[in-house]
Amino acid sequence: MRKQAIGIFDSGLGGLTILKALRRRLPHEDFIYFGDTANVPYGSKSKQTVTRFSLAIAHFLEEQQVKLIVVACNTASALALDALRKQCRVPVLGVIEPGAQAASQSTQNGCIAVLGTEATVRSQAYAKAISKKMPHAKIIQQACPLFVPLVEENWAKTPAANLIAQTYLAPIKRNQADTVILGCTHYPILKPMLATILGKNIRLVDPAQTTAQAVEKFLGKNSSAKSKGKLTVYASDDPTRFKRLASRLLGQPLSTVHLKKLNV
Ligand code: DGL
Repeated sequence: MRKQAIGIFDSGLGGLTILKALRRRLPHEDFIYFGDTANVPYGSKSKQTVTRFSLAIAHFLEEQQVKLIVVACNTASALALDALRKQCRVPVLGVIEPGAQAASQSTQNGCIAVLGTEATVRSQAYAKAISKKMPHAKIIQQACPLFVPLVEENWAKTPAANLIAQTYLAPIKRNQADTVILGCTHYPILKPMLATILGKNIRLVDPAQTTAQAVEKFLGKNSSAKSKGKLTVYASDDPTRFKRLASRLLGQPLSTVHLKKLNV
């Protein structure tokens, strides 16, 4: 019987932070990653548009016979998860719920900050998910729209990125949150810099680990494969550029990135 892969997608490079955690936890699984580089960023777009892109990618992944789709994008998880679950034949898991769970387990003082795209913040998806678990939590949200282009342009370690991060994080420090959710899958790439600015008393929560745990739990002990899993990567624009940047982020050279234009 042919082994079915796990499909995973993001607007661009950010979802690779989730892919890395998934491959570490589930090394025998095959993965198909889709980076929607033609349409990045999602965070400044409407629910309708992000849902349209997400459905097109999900349908492509279903055509590749995936057994499960992981929405490795907070924006798409916040805006399109319901539509994806309604319209897909395979199960769909997002990153918001695992992120909210990790943050509510981490906080000591009940004050949690959420860093995300404009669309994720506007959707209140994290605020709702955290409040369900911790009705009295104080939740501060901060949109960080410049972080995604900094990561996509490989500017994560520049002084410009540092200055922008200091500006975004100032209200978080003032409000004394003890836990900060990296509520966009691009942001863990900036983690060392964010951790330095926030200081050692603030915990940074990357939903990647809890998402990988959720996927493992969902799959149960069904996977009997013993060989190392295969990774296939698609980008909706300029696969050469994506291959260069993704190889660096994954810490391993990608042999091929296929071009798959979306009909959206
Ligand atoms: N990495 C995505 C997220 O987790 C989307 C960023 C964007 O395209 O704006 O929200």
